[in-house]
This record gives sequence, structure tokens and C-alpha cells, in this order.
Amino acid sequence: MASNLWGNVYYKNSFAGILSQEAGGRYIFTYDESYLHHSLPAISYTLPLQVEPHLSEHGLHPFFDNLCAEGWLKNAQARALSLRRGDRFSLLLAFGKDLAGAVSILDPDPIRKIEIDHNDPDNIAALTSRSSLSGIQPKLGAIKEGRVFRPAGRDERATYIAKLSSPTLPDILGLEYITTRACAALLPKDLVVEMTLAPLQGISKRALLIKRFDRSEDGKQIHFEEFNQLLGNHSDDKYEACYEDMADFIIQNRDICLRAECDTLFRRIMACILTGNTDAHLKNFAMEHTHIGLRLTPCYDLVGTACYRQYQTLALGIEGIRNMTIGSIGPKNIVRLGKLFGLPDKAIMLAVSDLASRLNRAHSAVKASKNVDQHIKEKLHQQIKKDGTEYSTQLGLTCQRSDKAAQRTKDLSASFGRYSWIKSTDGFSL
Ligand SMILES: Nc1ncnc2c1ncn2[C@@H]1O[C@H](COP(=O)(O)OP(=O)(O)OP(=O)(O)O)[C@@H](O)[C@H]1O
Ligand SMILES: [Mg+2]
Repeated sequence: MASNLWGNVYYKNSFAGILSQEAGGRYIFTYDESYLHHSLPAISYTLPLQVEPHLSEHGLHPFFDNLCAEGWLKNAQARALSLRRGDRFSLLLAFGKDLAGAVSILDPDPIRKIEIDHNDPDNIAALTSRSSLSGIQPKLGAIKEGRVFRPAGRDERATYIAKLSSPTLPDILGLEYITTRACAALLPKDLVVEMTLAPLQGISKRALLIKRFDRSEDGKQIHFEEFNQLLGNHSDDKYEACYEDMADFIIQNRDICLRAECDTLFRRIMACILTGNTDAHLKNFAMEHTHIGLRLTPCYDLVGTACYRQYQTLALGIEGIRNMTIGSIGPKNIVRLGKLFGLPDKAIMLAVSDLASRLNRAHSAVKASKNVDQHIKEKLHQQIKKDGTEYSTQLGLTCQRSDKAAQRTKDLSASFGRYSWIKSTDGFSL
């Protein structure tokens, strides 16, 4: 085989095939014959089971590309291998043992030695388990022992993600924690990741410990793909889309997806807008591969980023319009988004009224959160309030009056509870 680098790809404990880089730079993934004969699942929606190799001319196949580490962890990995930052395949080969989902990649013949900086505890902890996790925030795999969290060791599979504080974004751990709690209050019927603020043994007095939904209690792998993978995008293209693209995927794949999940997803996006989460890009929504098809994973990476002045632009577009600021999003956009999600008028109204009626609970959840600075709580309260107010104004301005709409507004007002401003609106027409 005329290749520079290659690795063995596993799905859970089964050898699935070989991923290699050819001398010319293109990448090839080929399923192993024995894997194909055992009726095992495809490792990715974008890599269906087939005898012929899957070729990728421009960089790693999107499925693999999105498994690579980003940000802080990627930099630490690159330093340990003395590599240029861009060599993603080398990083994945060296740090592909514990990845998001149920696929792992092992280099049978490593040519590069991993040099860990033994004076830097974060570095030791992050690199020892040979794992990769995407995302920009500093993070590493962790394990819970009794009530104590510690970094995952050499041959261990992490069951938690530990996020560490960021030098550039003060309070981000606390902000993610309270935003997640606010979203859980807004979406009582949905699944939201479990997390806690706690020390990470030997590393930090304060980390955000997030339970992994892709690991069972005993560490077994559960397979999922982010929408960036499902849509066949490379990692860097995670902002190059609109929210409706995810709904389109669900609608187009009706044989393996549930149409009802468009409603769940729509509500999640509304919760993100209401909590000022401007970083809800395609890698922050995902679907689990189950034996009956693809189903949404729990919500994760919920951060009210609009609390920081520099993050006011929505990660993805709405109705083909990109780079909208969070302050400019009003009911008109929400209604259009709902329609693009294929939701009937009643479902859109219900979602709006359900979420609006729970805003006060979101505030209470933020208020009740322990170990988070008051000033960051205040910022999130303001964020939630601000969007509520903007909705109210725009509801009045943009919605046409009609008897039906007036009745709906009445119903809506009742469910908005103490948000009495909604009562002053003229109507909410769909
Ligand atoms: N609870 C979880 N269980 C399993 N996988 C997860 C979980 N949370 C996050 N992930 C995976 O890890 C990746 C990185 O996590 P996350 O998005 O929280 O990091 P981040 O650094 O905050 O990302 P971003 O760059 O979007 O700010 C996600 O894209 C997802 O693939
Ligand atoms: Mg993320």
C-alpha cells in the first residue's frame, strides 16, 4: 500500500477497517471483509457499509476529521508529538484510543514518540489516556471514583468530560453550569446532560464535570455523531450552515429519524436563543445511533455566550440568513424557523408558549445554583430577560391582528405567567 500513515479503525471491540493516507495526500477508509460479513453497523452515516474504499480527496473524511481534538487539547497533543498543528491524521493516530462515540483509531506501528511535559500536571493528565475530544475549551477525560473525580488513566475510557477554567473567558465554567440548569428548566421533557462543579484530583480545585452520554455506567461505548458529521462537513465548517439544515436532515431521513424530533430540536434552539447561547453550532447538536435509527442525544455545551460582549452573533443562520445578532432575533424569525422545521402552526405556538411559561423557572434555576459568582448569574438573568422583552416588543410590531390570532395571544398570555408584558401585544399570527 502506497501510504504514508495508516491506522486500524475499531467499532467498539470489532476491527472495522483501515484508514490510510496516500502519498498524494488523499485519504482512504476501507471496511474489513470480516466486518462486512458480520452485519455490524456502519461506523458513520456518511461511510455506508461497502466493499469499495471510501475516498476523501480533501483532508480526512468529515467523520474522522470531527473526531480530532481542537483548541487547547490539540495544541497540547501537537507539542507532545513535535508536530505542526495542521497534521490532524498524525494527532488522531496517536490520540485516537478514546474518542467521542464508539469508534477508536489505533496506530499499529507508531513512528513518533509522545513527549509529555512531566512538569505540567494538566499536560500529563490530558495526554496520558491517548484520547481526543473536540471543542475549544480546555478539557480532558475523567472518571468518578466514589465522590471524587480524577483524570482518566492510560488504559481507561473516560466516563466524564472535565472542562477546566479558561484564561481568556473568565467564569465560563460557572456560566455553562447555570445555562445548562436554565435550559433544563425550560425543557422539562427533554434530556439535558448531567454535570457538577467539583475539584478534579491533582489538577484543579474547580472543574466542570460533565457525564458522558456516549458511555454506559461501566464505560461501554455508545455511538453518536454530531450534526457536523451527519451533514458531511469538515470540523472547521461547523458554523457554515443554518438551523433548518438539521431539520432537513431529519425530514429527509424519515426512514431512520423520527419527525417528532424536529419539534424537540426546535425547542432546543429556542432555549439557546432565550439563554443567549450564540455558540450553538453544528458540533453542539448530535444524534445517537440506536438499533431503530438515529435519535437526538441529550443537549450539551449550553453556554450563554452572549453574556460576553464579543459573542453576539448567532452561530448558525435562520432561513438562509447568516450572521444575525442575537438581539435582532424576534418572533418573526422563530415562526419562520418553526415552519422550516415542518411544524404545524399549533406546534409552533405550543412550543413558544411552553418555553415562555417556564422563563421564571429558568430564572429560579439560575438563582438556586450553588458555587457560581453572583455577577455571572446576574448577566445570565439579564440575558434571559432581555430576550423576553425583545420578543414582546416584536410580537406587537410584527404580528398581524386576526380573531384567531387574538385568541391565540390570549392563550399565550395566560401561559406566560408573570411576564405580563406579553398581554400588551396585538396578536401572534402564523
Ligand atoms: N456529555 C457528553 N457526552 C459525550 N460527548 C460529549 C458530551 N459533551 C460534549 N461531547 C462531545 O465533545 C465535543 C466537545 O464538547 P463541547 O462542545 O462541550 O466542548 P467546547 O469546548 O465547549 O466546544 P465549543 O468549541 O463548541 O465551545 C462535542 O462536540 C461532543 O462531540
Ligand atoms: Mg461544543
